Amino acid sequence: MQVDLRSSWHIRNLEIPTRLVLAPMAGVSVQAFRRQGRRYGAGLVCSEMISCAGIEHGNERTLGYLRVGSDEHPLAIQLFGSESVVMAEAARMVEAAGADLVDVNYGCPVRKVTRTGAGASLLDEPDRACRIVEAIASAVTVPVTVKLRRGVEDGARTCLEVGPALVEAGAASLTLHPRSAQQMYTGEADHALTAELVELVDVPVVASGDITSRARA
Ligand SMILES: Cc1cc2nc3c(=O)[nH]c(=O)nc-3n(C[C@H](O)[C@H](O)[C@H](O)COP(=O)(O)O)c2cc1C
Repeated sequence: MQVDLRSSWHIRNLEIPTRLVLAPMAGVSVQAFRRQGRRYGAGLVCSEMISCAGIEHGNERTLGYLRVGSDEHPLAIQLFGSESVVMAEAARMVEAAGADLVDVNYGCPVRKVTRTGAGASLLDEPDRACRIVEAIASAVTVPVTVKLRRGVEDGARTCLEVGPALVEAGAASLTLHPRSAQQMYTGEADHALTAELVELVDVPVVASGDITSRARA
């Protein structure tokens, strides 16, 4: 299939001017990096993952991540956490900060995050994962999106069950990074799985992983 990477698409009513999305990267996706991403063609950029507990506790550094420039739209701000009430409250602050999308992280494989019940560990707790999305979707008016991995274990196809359930719970778009959490950043992203997910949901699906050239994009 040929897709014009410069064509626009929508998440609900939000127009994204190109088909390229800048992947969120902790420690990297600061405002300057996001601006460069947009300058080089990204239609949508995203903050790095932000701790909802950090927002709840008014952590100064965390609140700094919520600074949004007027030239930054459309912008997603990504949250991680495991408690729906805290996530919903953090999402309200993200919306108030000016984000166009609240993105939820169900992909982070790092132990510091998964041991708190957040990130990729939520793929093994689909009910909780859906409750968090539901709570955020009722707390904010901007669309809620979710970034997920294929599953926790190697070879897992969990995303094909959890993905549609998250859409049912209110997710307006999904980004799939089709590696397992166990794989971390090794091996290949299996985009055959991304294609399967596309068939199962009626919201846009963003493919993340191994997009190393225009041809691969
Ligand atoms: C240094 C680094 C930090 C990352 N931080 C985040 C993050 O905060 N949130 C997130 O959803 N994904 C994060 N990711 C995953 C990327 O967004 C992306 O899904 C993944 O790198 C895609 O695989 P690729 O490296 O093969 O392109 C990170 C990746 C890297 C390399």
